[in-house]
Amino acid sequence: MFSENHKTAVYCNNVSYVYPDGTQALKNINFRLLPGEKAAIIGPNGAGKSTFLQLLNGIKRPQGEIKIFETLLSEKNLRNIKTHVGLVFQNPDDQLFCPTIFDDLAFGPVNLGMKEDETESRVTKALMDVGLQGYEKRSSLHLSYGERKLAAIASILTMNPWLIAMDEPTSNLDPLHRRKIIQWINRSNLTCLLTTHDMDMITETCQKVVLFNKGQVMAEGETKKILKDKKLLEENDLELPLKWQ
Ligand SMILES: Nc1ncnc2c1ncn2[C@@H]1O[C@H](COP(=O)(O)OP(=O)(O)OP(=O)(O)O)[C@@H](O)[C@H]1O
Ligand SMILES: [Mg+2]
Repeated sequence: MFSENHKTAVYCNNVSYVYPDGTQALKNINFRLLPGEKAAIIGPNGAGKSTFLQLLNGIKRPQGEIKIFETLLSEKNLRNIKTHVGLVFQNPDDQLFCPTIFDDLAFGPVNLGMKEDETESRVTKALMDVGLQGYEKRSSLHLSYGERKLAAIASILTMNPWLIAMDEPTSNLDPLHRRKIIQWINRSNLTCLLTTHDMDMITETCQKVVLFNKGQVMAEGETKKILKDKKLLEENDLELPLKWQ
């Protein structure tokens, strides 16, 4: 867990990112997430949501300043920050690549040089957390898409991250697996930042919403304030959550 001394979980000051082909994906982003908060980034396709998440554990290096739990994201601190920020990709197949689920979940801890019994207990606990207890010997190739999404989350949990960033955690899920992800988010006491097009899911999980469009922050605030603002949402090619239509 993060220490109580931490005042911010994510702090971005004037962050911009340009892809090698010259596409400006993010422009002058200022953003703050508090320890323990759960927040969603919304925005139309191409708004920069996924790019932004990939900045938080150093996969991509932006211009501007990012601090994670008050540590500057720099070359020197990168390894340390990677252990505290868990990024769950939209596609679970980008995250599961070992012969067994056990190996997938043990991959992070083993890389950190963790002892065998500690690794095993972390794997067992992470599988329990997402409701996949007993899946150690299964292969991700033989799991359903929903099970793979849950396993991808579990593979991040074994790192005991302080912050979990999830890219469209409920996309392509059936109602049961969508519900399981919502319940896991609500049970978890991790600081959580997710991107989603599932507006109703946000109303059940997140206190705060940030609206991105064309690489910029257009609005941010409490979930109800943003997601009940029909005009703001429509101006940004979005819609009210179904329950508030
Ligand atoms: N590898 C890349 N090279 C060049 N441009 C890219 C690359 N990946 C993404 N982009 C561009 O960066 C911008 C932001 O893309 P990003 O994937 O972050 O959007 P997004 O908000 O996650 O969209 P979606 O809702 O479709 O997932 C888009 O204009 C996209 O075309
Ligand atoms: Mg995306």
